[in-house]
Amino acid sequence: MAPIKACIFDLDGVIVNTSNYHYLAWKRLTNELGFDITEADNEQLRGVSRMECLRIILSIGGVSVSADQLYDLAEKKNNWYLEYVQKMDEHEILPGAAEFIQAARESGLKVAIASASKNAGIILRRVKLDTVYDALVDGNTVNRSKPNPDIFLRSARELNVDPENCIVFEDAISGIQAAHNAGMRSIGIGSDIMLKNAHMVVPSLGVMSLEDLYSLENFA
Ligand code: G6P
Ligand code: MG
Repeated sequence: MAPIKACIFDLDGVIVNTSNYHYLAWKRLTNELGFDITEADNEQLRGVSRMECLRIILSIGGVSVSADQLYDLAEKKNNWYLEYVQKMDEHEILPGAAEFIQAARESGLKVAIASASKNAGIILRRVKLDTVYDALVDGNTVNRSKPNPDIFLRSARELNVDPENCIVFEDAISGIQAAHNAGMRSIGIGSDIMLKNAHMVVPSLGVMSLEDLYSLENFA
């Protein structure tokens, strides 16, 4: 019955939908390497760090490369991905996300953004959401990927709130697991079949109210 004092939002799939841009950039890379990935393959990459994604992708294609080449390939993909990011603006904020974050803050809750992306700061600036949070923890600050709880524990520390008083909003199964590993409650954004382990699942922040949020205070 711990009171809720902070909301921690994942970025990709919760506030913006950059997943398709990642997909297009990875696809371009795999095509250059002589194979292809599908949208289903892309689902495995949600919440996974850039280097880990690259390892998964190369294993799909059965391609092995040297450590140096690994970094070159990751950089190449990232440059293509950034071409899409540079064109983003506030119209790409997912429905209801900005409004929900604002309502949470106005009700006195602290807000952190926790993303595995090293580009999180750039994306938040592009969509003009760079002043709506109290802490940003991203792939530049934390190394170990979700389901490791590091990113959420670090967010709680920066907000000066105990983990049991935090609620995590996540679209990735590994992100829900990371929240639970951090001792936090979770709200899944997306399919309730896929995110069945979350304490609550909604299709988007657009249908989420503060009343729904506070109903989670009854979960230990
Ligand atoms: C997010 C996305 C992942 C992506 C990761 C790293 O978690 O869901 O698909 O691989 O960020 O992104 P980056 O921008 O650092 O390559
Ligand atoms: Mg995500």
